[in-house]
Amino acid sequence: MKFSLIAAIDSKNGIGVKNRLPWSIPEDLDFFNKMTTGNGRNIVIMGKKTWESLPEKYRPLPRRINFVLTRDAEYKAKGGIVASSIEDALERSLSHHPDHVFIIGGANVYEQAIQDHRCDTLYITQVEGEHGCDAFFPKIDESVFEKAFESKSRTVNGVTYRFAKYIKR
Ligand SMILES: NC(=O)c1ccc[n+]([C@@H]2O[C@H](COP(=O)([O-])OP(=O)(O)OC[C@H]3O[C@@H](n4cnc5c(N)ncnc54)[C@H](OP(=O)(O)O)[C@@H]3O)[C@@H](O)[C@H]2O)c1
Repeated sequence: MKFSLIAAIDSKNGIGVKNRLPWSIPEDLDFFNKMTTGNGRNIVIMGKKTWESLPEKYRPLPRRINFVLTRDAEYKAKGGIVASSIEDALERSLSHHPDHVFIIGGANVYEQAIQDHRCDTLYITQVEGEHGCDAFFPKIDESVFEKAFESKSRTVNGVTYRFAKYIKR
């Protein structure tokens, strides 16, 4: 089963600080929700820390099947499905017949997933500047992923960003 990664990254590939997003970009959250929700038959897969970083009222992310990765067999993710590996989550996704599967973070999970042969699309919101991050997106190898789209930049709350889409060559 093929899947996409979706992330917002700064100019040094930073994605988070102290288990939170470093910026507030409402349009990016709208984009994230629109893409990952689709027609209500999509799956999102995330690491335990990203799950725990979601505000409780958005956990699980609504109208999406939420898989939470942990090696802790006792872990409970209320409203989510606990999986022991990316492979486990992808295998169990099949029975839900999803339209799309998105890997939504964090750093640890992106690092593994981007190397998987089934990862075919990256939806990247490029945030200008450095934002003091302590969690990072892996380097995008442009010999593997080609930038197929880039929007014009916009600025909100003093933060300039643009949307990009990469497709596996
Ligand atoms: N900017 C963005 O788009 C974006 C998106 C998402 C997250 N973030 C940020 O990313 C940061 C969190 O990233 P992170 O790397 O610290 O944590 P993470 O990737 O969200 O979660 C890491 C945990 O997931 C579990 N895990 C990871 N790979 C696994 C595997 N293959 N099999 C089973 N379990 C696995 C492990 O849990 P156990 O230790 O319990 O085994 C691991 O400790 C936060 O700052 C968050 O805000 C940013």
